Amino acid sequence: MTAGDGAPARRPRVFVTRRLPGDALDRLAREAEVDLWPGDVPPPYDALVEHAARADALICLLTDRIDAALIDAAPALRVISTVAVGYDNIDVAAATRRGIPVGNTPGVLTETTADLAFALILATARRIVDADRFVRDGLWRTWDPNLLLGYDVYGATLGIIGFGKIGRAVARRAHGFGMRVLCTTRTQIDGPAAPAQSVALDDLLRASDFVSLHVPLTPDTTRMIGERELRLMKPTAILINTARGGVIDQPALVRALSEGWIAGAGLDVAAVEPVPPGDALLRAPNTVLLPHIGSASHATRERMAAMAVDNTLAALRNEPLPNRVGSG
Ligand code: NAP
Ligand code: GLV
Repeated sequence: MTAGDGAPARRPRVFVTRRLPGDALDRLAREAEVDLWPGDVPPPYDALVEHAARADALICLLTDRIDAALIDAAPALRVISTVAVGYDNIDVAAATRRGIPVGNTPGVLTETTADLAFALILATARRIVDADRFVRDGLWRTWDPNLLLGYDVYGATLGIIGFGKIGRAVARRAHGFGMRVLCTTRTQIDGPAAPAQSVALDDLLRASDFVSLHVPLTPDTTRMIGERELRLMKPTAILINTARGGVIDQPALVRALSEGWIAGAGLDVAAVEPVPPGDALLRAPNTVLLPHIGSASHATRERMAAMAVDNTLAALRNEPLPNRVGSG
């Protein structure tokens, strides 16, 4: 290939902030110079800025802060492609001002993440982690009518906050468990075949045995579940969060769990990730904590990597991104 004046065309340079599963990066390397951050932890912010400054494209993760300063320091940047559906770590407005499209990976991780939300419902309700530890600790002496009692999932009421792709996928699973499903929506979904009954947030919190969060993290949803909302929940209710840690006022949740305002929590995400050693969340009772693994199946992570590379290659070919944030 030549640049038109006989000189060989410069291959575009793509900074990739972590090794990705599958063969997507091999496909990328056939068309671009891949600058791959080595190791298993994110680049420190300064290194992120330094590598982005030399890149035509950036493939990043939800652990990377892509802010206006980084975008301004990257004169050649033509696309920001995140390996996630959530993009609260990216200053999309700053990218848009520079004419840089932002790509993400919606849809492909919906069912996998809904599976994990349901796993948290079952694990917290039926005390699966406590029970496993009980057996391993050699405490199992006999069948005991009072041992490790939990809550029924079958027939319970599930409240879904954020009735988008993942929220609806959780609702479908809940129907299989004979659950009554409530949701909050900003658009009308009622009708004979409605998968859930749309109610006001406070009514959902008062009526639900399980409350599952599926909103993106935005200024509107930041700490939308705080002390007031937690006190509206039943003392037997369980809160599930596979959305973003910032949706919950975490210190208020720790108090709610410690003082029995609610019965338990299943959390795949936290206000600060990883949860710092010594954080009170680590000592909260009746709580199952996971390290942000909602989309973590082999097949789904490979598909997410492929989508992120597809978004990147499209931009480098001056084509529309298959999945562009804010494009509807
Ligand atoms: P989605 O299809 O866009 O659904 C999000 C839903 O939230 C939409 O129905 C949206 O309503 C609603 N919503 C937004 N702001 C709201 C508000 N202020 N009040 C009430 N509802 C609001 O997204 P998704 O694919 O289901 O993903 C949802 C989120 O899950 C992602 O943004 C990400 O943060 C998180 N996630 C986490 C994992 C994990 O590994 N734990 C994996 C995947 C996703 P409208 O349609 O009216 O805007
Ligand atoms: C994971 O949290 C995602 O947003 O894809």
